[in-house]
Amino acid sequence: MSVLEITDLHVTVETEAGTTPILNGISLTIRTGETHAIMGPNGSGKSTLAYTIAGHPKYTVTGGSITLDGEDVLAMSVDERARAGLFLAMQYPVEIPGVTVTNFLRTAKTALDGEAPSIRQWTKDVKEAMANLRMDPKFAQRNVNEGFSGGEKKRHEILQLEVLKPKVAVLDETDSGLDVDALRIVSEGVNRAKEHTDLGVLLITHYTRILRYIRPDYVHVVVAGKIVEEGGPELADRLEEEGYDRFLDPSAPIEA
Ligand SMILES: Nc1ncnc2c1ncn2[C@@H]1O[C@H](COP(=O)(O)OP(=O)(O)O)[C@@H](O)[C@H]1O
Ligand SMILES: [Mg+2]
Repeated sequence: MSVLEITDLHVTVETEAGTTPILNGISLTIRTGETHAIMGPNGSGKSTLAYTIAGHPKYTVTGGSITLDGEDVLAMSVDERARAGLFLAMQYPVEIPGVTVTNFLRTAKTALDGEAPSIRQWTKDVKEAMANLRMDPKFAQRNVNEGFSGGEKKRHEILQLEVLKPKVAVLDETDSGLDVDALRIVSEGVNRAKEHTDLGVLLITHYTRILRYIRPDYVHVVVAGKIVEEGGPELADRLEEEGYDRFLDPSAPIEA
């Protein structure tokens, strides 16, 4: 079993207005096999948390710690984090001109494992994962995310998840822009990865819709860079009915 432990995390970003605090003391413990939903209104810091775990250079950690099985994640480079078993599916996946999906996946797998996968097994695994995600085999020869629709980008993120087999995956708004069928297909991919590899999942979402397909064990609500409420799946049901209004009401008792 692996444990990703985030303790009292403070993060700032440089903006035109100067150094701006975005995360103001986030603590979370994710064990493999567990699914944690991070929910919250727009601009509350959800993507910042995802990028900070992945090691994006724009985000400066000013306090707190992130460890994976006791190892200091913040001291690791982006590559080292991936090799340690962390995975990020981005809210806005980037295009990689000149790199085909098949070469990208193989290069990533080789970098993660320290050796190239055996061609036969690898080809079979990728083919099977693409079929499961209802991806046209022609996608393998296209450049990563170039001209992909929103839904195709998200499927490609989950394809990576299925073939790279991380320990803990951070999925940032993987549901955004998906129609119901695509949402189901993508969710099934996440659930397969959970079944096969005992994956830990940090599922970031604004909406409760995806939580009908990927059932969270824990729900954390982030507002203004802090966790303001935590609970089980029933908290997501409550948010579905009430929205985030009660957290945003200035007279509500949210600690500064
Ligand atoms: N790279 C950045 N440059 C400037 N501001 C940023 C950057 N990243 C995040 N922010 C600001 O931090 C806040 C939280 O953003 P984000 O983490 O994307 O929120 P969420 O994902 O919850 O919608 C927002 O006010 C956003 O404008
Ligand atoms: Mg976001």
